[in-house]
Amino acid sequence: MIVLGIETSCDETAAAVLKNGEILSDIVLSQVIHSEFGGVVPELASREHQKALPVIITEALKKAGICKEDIEGIAVTYGPGLIGALLIGLGFAKGLAYSLNIPIIGVNHLEGHLWAYTLEHDIITDKFITLIISGGHSIIVKVNGFGNYSVLGQTLDDACGEAFDKVAKLLGLGYPGGKRIDELAKEGDPQFHKFPVLKSPPENMNLSFSGLKTAVLYYLNSLSEEYKKNHISDICASFQYTVSKILISKVFKALEMEKIEHLVLAGGVAANSYLKQTFSETADKKGINLIIPSPRYCTDNGAVIAKAGTVYLKKKIYSSIELDAVPSLKLV
Ligand code: KG4
Ligand code: ZN
Repeated sequence: MIVLGIETSCDETAAAVLKNGEILSDIVLSQVIHSEFGGVVPELASREHQKALPVIITEALKKAGICKEDIEGIAVTYGPGLIGALLIGLGFAKGLAYSLNIPIIGVNHLEGHLWAYTLEHDIITDKFITLIISGGHSIIVKVNGFGNYSVLGQTLDDACGEAFDKVAKLLGLGYPGGKRIDELAKEGDPQFHKFPVLKSPPENMNLSFSGLKTAVLYYLNSLSEEYKKNHISDICASFQYTVSKILISKVFKALEMEKIEHLVLAGGVAANSYLKQTFSETADKKGINLIIPSPRYCTDNGAVIAKAGTVYLKKKIYSSIELDAVPSLKLV
């Protein structure tokens, strides 16, 4: 079964071809235009998708060694995301599906992230917990099988990736800055500065990052430019230490309360090397089976959309050609 996956929910224009769930091609174009504005400009994102998507799809088909008539289904992100950006992917997918007379499958972007690990691993078990940490979401999800999810907790304010990007901006590291913080922190001391962590009852699985972001802002305002420059790696490492502490306390409590021994990380921030290390150490200590996809499959791409789409296609669950974009689509 050959499936084309299309992803345009934010600032990555991406397309991938999967054959029976195996990747034949996977092309991602990260829009660089937004870096000069310090964040994604929705109007520009749509225009960039409009320009790039036909080229990216053509490249994905060529790399997969197939022609468009070989495609048996088109999986496309229909939410959550930027409305204009989603509509570009959706419009293209509909046109192509209509002209080829093949099914279109609308995929929830979060469900794509959730099953990303299955591009590289077999399905671990029917029951596991996933932490999705991306630029727009931070959710702890209990998975009871495909399509059966319950949200145990989520951020009450900023998403985890948003906190990384905002702190990166405060440090003058450009947009998106999560990866830059990760790189700089490798040279820094995680214990250099202790940022406060909001205490909440252990059974409360919700997350919060805006307090940490504000704490970083006040701390930076209290420093001289020279001190900041000399200790930028230490500040990045201390910020990551705090993020890790927040996430680990909540996620491992959720595993304990739900009596689940399998944990999957997903979303762009799961590409972070320090989080990978601290989660792995904690999982080892607590006897938890931890899976983290390769960085490429943590961040946005078409392969994860095609993968979820393949499952729907196999179940013969298709979307209508009237499928609309849903910017605030929820996982459950
Ligand atoms: O999943 P994703 O590609 O897009 C969304 O669905 O939002 O996640 C993007 C987010 C951005 O906030 C970016 O800064 C962050 O993931 N990110 C990282 C790393 N790589 C990407 N954050 C921390 N460390 C990284 N290595
Ligand atoms: Zn994403």
